[in-house]
Amino acid sequence: MNNYELGKVTGVRILVTGSAGFIGSHIVTVLREAGHEVTGLDCFLPAAHRQPLPAAEGTQAGDVRDAQAVRQALRSVDAVCHQAAMVGMGVSLADAPEYASHNDLGTAVLLAEMAAAGIGKLVLASSMVVYGEGAYECPADGPQRPLPRLGEDLRAGRFEPRCPLCHGELSPSFVAEDAPIEPRSLYAASKAAQEHYAAAWARATGSTAIALRYHNVYGPNMPRDTPYAGVAAIFRSALENGLPPQVFEDGGQRRDFIHVTDIARANLAALQSPGIPGSLTPYNIATGRPHTILDMATELASAMSGQRPQITGGFRGGDVRHVTASPAKARDELGFAAEIRFRQGMKDFATAPLRS
Ligand code: UD1
Repeated sequence: MNNYELGKVTGVRILVTGSAGFIGSHIVTVLREAGHEVTGLDCFLPAAHRQPLPAAEGTQAGDVRDAQAVRQALRSVDAVCHQAAMVGMGVSLADAPEYASHNDLGTAVLLAEMAAAGIGKLVLASSMVVYGEGAYECPADGPQRPLPRLGEDLRAGRFEPRCPLCHGELSPSFVAEDAPIEPRSLYAASKAAQEHYAAAWARATGSTAIALRYHNVYGPNMPRDTPYAGVAAIFRSALENGLPPQVFEDGGQRRDFIHVTDIARANLAALQSPGIPGSLTPYNIATGRPHTILDMATELASAMSGQRPQITGGFRGGDVRHVTASPAKARDELGFAAEIRFRQGMKDFATAPLRS
């Protein structure tokens, strides 16, 4: 029998996996500020921790794939906030075993140990990448799932996805949580798998799982420019080195940039929400106010008094064009709304520390 009580807002004993990472460390801070008892588990992946953050107090060194380490970390815990993962889009298919190992296997081990320990509450870090291309609208044919973007269109500078019926250009709309899961990268496949494992665990044990589908997270201690880093960190690094941000396509790609402290607050809200026993409930964690990549580059360049962005017209094969989501369900059911506005967030990010 665990002590996690509905609506109890302080004193819940929570294990945060990935507690020494970019997002995990912010979550630890917010949960502690809210009066929870937090312990952490982190394997200090070399790719993410070349320059370790001062490890959150109470973080044990251990790998979620190691059943014994997990068993020990789960002692005297009421709920788990699972952030440990290998992130980013991956560089090549050679990364597949590592994604599967850290993300799929790690989650499977954690869930098996939670079931054995009788811990019935999980908040899982998921991602908007599980949707693949977002939601689109055709002026002639209504809501449509886009055709894959063709190399010849991209090379000719035609970046908008096309309608499967009339082949006209689609415009983006806001994806909701009931949209089909359609992972398009190794990382996305592993995030979708984590959701499926968690749903199966919840059903088998009558437990509660909440999946938070994060949009594009930025903020202090974001990992610096690596092949696995998000675009905000890549632009920040370029500007810092006196170079213009290199904007792919025509810069009109839309994303929802959300500050890491808002992500941490969403985790707090999810841990304090009752959820639905026996199932996994997904939520988009987004601001609902998307911006284009060019907007973001321009805002950051101006905040850093740096060089103006350069639109390269180049493209990356696996990129989706737009991913923008409705934050309505998180607002209605978790009482969560992002607080940090884009302009202020980018201004702060311009001088925030990054990790190398
Ligand atoms: C990102 C993350 C993904 C995460 C998701 C939601 C990475 C690599 N991707 O996906 O793991 O799940 O957010 O949080 O961390 N771009 C440029 N110039 C550059 C680099 C990128 O213009 O130098 C453009 C890309 O073409 C793309 C957009 O910026 O259109 C966003 O890129 P990126 O942040 O890498 O990936 P997402 O697909 O948004």
